[in-house]
Amino acid sequence: MGKKPYKLFFILPFFLGIVLLSYVWFFKQVLHGSEIENRHSTLIKPSKENVNEKLLILVWTWPFKETFPLDTCESHYKISGCSLTADRSLLGEVDAVVFHHYDVMYSWDIPRGPRPHYQRWVWFNIEPPIVTVNLYIFDNLINMTMSYQENSDIFLPYGYMKPLKEPQSFKIPTKSKLVAWVVSAWYSGTRRASYYEELKKHIDIDVYGRYHKKLSRDGFERTLIQYKFYLAFENCEHRDYITEKLWSNAFITGLVPVVLGPPRENYERFIPPTSFIHVDDFSSPKELAQFLLDLDKDNAKYEQYFSWRSKFVTVRELGWDSFYCKACRELQQSKGYKAIASVEKWFLT
Ligand SMILES: *[C@@H]1O[C@H](CO)[C@@H](O)[C@H](O)[C@H]1NC(C)=O
Repeated sequence: MGKKPYKLFFILPFFLGIVLLSYVWFFKQVLHGSEIENRHSTLIKPSKENVNEKLLILVWTWPFKETFPLDTCESHYKISGCSLTADRSLLGEVDAVVFHHYDVMYSWDIPRGPRPHYQRWVWFNIEPPIVTVNLYIFDNLINMTMSYQENSDIFLPYGYMKPLKEPQSFKIPTKSKLVAWVVSAWYSGTRRASYYEELKKHIDIDVYGRYHKKLSRDGFERTLIQYKFYLAFENCEHRDYITEKLWSNAFITGLVPVVLGPPRENYERFIPPTSFIHVDDFSSPKELAQFLLDLDKDNAKYEQYFSWRSKFVTVRELGWDSFYCKACRELQQSKGYKAIASVEKWFLT
């Protein structure tokens, strides 16, 4: 019995030694571990500047064979992290390919075979259904759409209205003529052709264009600005298909547009209700003609069609490069799986 404390005298330091070593080992692990964790978190934590992922985009065809600069995303549009290329040999490594439908719809010039799992294909079209054929060639190939339809993944309107920071006064240009229309492709059999045929029986219309009165490029604005009204008649009535006929020829030049295209509600999604006259507001072309003739005599009422100009300015997005840069920005922002089984169905319904 008397020997036991003696034994303890030897065992206790041994025991304490083990405890001490365990402590050292434990803290070493904890310190080391947190160091790893720290290093790891700086690697994966997205820094603010890194939000725009670097993407390489292949321009499959020059749209309508028109070339454009490929290095303007950052300098012109402040969209960083985008490289555009037109070099098809990079097909196997690009992040996305943009197909301009019009250039491939007859040739079916699109790649066959498998693609990298991350590579997204973008369908690009700014033409109306009347001249857009063979949509089915893109069945089960497309991940994103880019068109004038507002529900596109990449929405490309022909123009838009930008609110002014401060109200501005607008001086209505002096007008000496009544109704103008510029038309190059006639598209007989369309609603606009027959509407015009009827309308001209009741009001004088000056028609410019390929088969009509001559209008030089530099005389364009000078000539049109003299008119009170512009027939912004679209060749096709399709949702959101509102073209430069409205944005440039009428709004930017300074005429009141008389529109024929999608329904009034569709226009009102993009422009103020009082900025235009819609053919559907009248029961017949004759009634529209009478309205325009009355408006011609009522200056105060005519001027009301310009009142929006104190609050908005019309902007046209120009340049192919701007479209492709915009596509890149959307590709950066929308990640994840997306597939469009039929662009035909998407586009036409
Ligand atoms: C893109 O679409 C194709 C064809 O539908 C599909 O196989 C592929 O998984 C899609 N990729 C992504 C990243 O969504």
